Amino acid sequence: VIESIKAREIFDSRGNPTVEVDVILSDGTRGRAEVPSGASTGEKEAVELRDGGTRLQGKGVHKAVMNVNQDIAQALKGTDPFNQALVDQMMIDLDGTENKRKLGANAILGVSMAVARAAANSLKVPLYRYLGGTDLELPQTFHNVINGGEHADNGIDIQEFMITPVERDSFRDGFEKIVNTYHVLKKVIEEAGYTTGLGDEGGFAPDLSSSEEALQMLHDAILKAGYTPGKEIAIAFDAAASYFFNRETKNYDFEGKTYSPRELGEYYASLFEKFPEIISIEDPYGEEDWDSFAEFTEKYGQQIQIVADDPVCTNPKLIREAIKKGMANSILIKLNQIGTVTKTLEAIRLARKNGYTTMMSHRSGETGDPFIADFTVATNSAELKSGAPARSERVEKYNQLLRIEEELGQAGTRLAHFPDNVDYD
Ligand code: PGA
Ligand code: ZN
Repeated sequence: VIESIKAREIFDSRGNPTVEVDVILSDGTRGRAEVPSGASTGEKEAVELRDGGTRLQGKGVHKAVMNVNQDIAQALKGTDPFNQALVDQMMIDLDGTENKRKLGANAILGVSMAVARAAANSLKVPLYRYLGGTDLELPQTFHNVINGGEHADNGIDIQEFMITPVERDSFRDGFEKIVNTYHVLKKVIEEAGYTTGLGDEGGFAPDLSSSEEALQMLHDAILKAGYTPGKEIAIAFDAAASYFFNRETKNYDFEGKTYSPRELGEYYASLFEKFPEIISIEDPYGEEDWDSFAEFTEKYGQQIQIVADDPVCTNPKLIREAIKKGMANSILIKLNQIGTVTKTLEAIRLARKNGYTTMMSHRSGETGDPFIADFTVATNSAELKSGAPARSERVEKYNQLLRIEEELGQAGTRLAHFPDNVDYD
């Protein structure tokens, strides 16, 4: 059973405070987890509890830490750590709010992840096996190598320009191709006379004049690295369009021009035409603009993956609505948007059941915790975005996948603690 729970304030990759949780079981096993934090957060995300006031720019998490150490620790003492659904539901009930604002999603998620880890440790199995089903596979990874939008101080309004391995002999082989392309991209940026400083997710943040220029640079880098764009390495981007949606005019103020929703769709289509190696686009429209999002999906959903992040925030209720509306054909999955392991699993199952793909995601503020690498494999999420192949908080996830690939070579016993019995209606 759960013996004790202790949280503390630690710091994330941006130097902001975040929550770390240790869960100790009665057999002496410990599970530890660290909570990430976004910058371009969706409005409907579960609430990240911050102290306010003047200490650490108001971003302290002492309240969230206290909520873990007092209320949550007390409530969960003696609970079965192998019953993740019960543990998570107890915290949701204890919080009692729709968006976890009382205890804080950062408090609840830290405990939820740490309990899963403690349970896996207690059984002496890797986390991906503990949480996982059968026939586990390594994901296709999406690497943000040019950062714009809220993640960098440059003139590009698209937030993330990603490269992804397509044809590969193994996970390691695909990752090596990404690393090669990343290093060549640095040269391409240098030769064009720009600086090669990094943005929040480890990608370069050159002060380019347009998103099209960024795509051209990726295209050139793929070629110069010796690969065929679209064959070995493809391109994806996250527009994170909520951040250039004009709430008054309902238009999009993008890189010095104003676009109606339809014009913006035509602009994206022109990019797809110019760069046929683009295979995935995330949040092409603002989080309130569901009509445009659905219309865009109807037009382009057959030819390209369209990922919904901010409009649905890993929330099963919102995902259900989005599916009804025919919005997107893929769902971005972030544990801290919804706040528990169990709810995240429900979001994944719901999306899959309806023919949507799922892309697991890091946050722009990350920690060294590779939880999502294991979680991606465990849920066979097929896709993961975790930033550039640079900066330890990003690379640690990929390194963990390299380790898992090594292990998956051997047959392992299946330990499925999450039977597929969630009721979606
Ligand atoms: P965030 O960005 O972590 O800053 O929210 C990631 C994303 O928008 O996908
Ligand atoms: Zn996004």
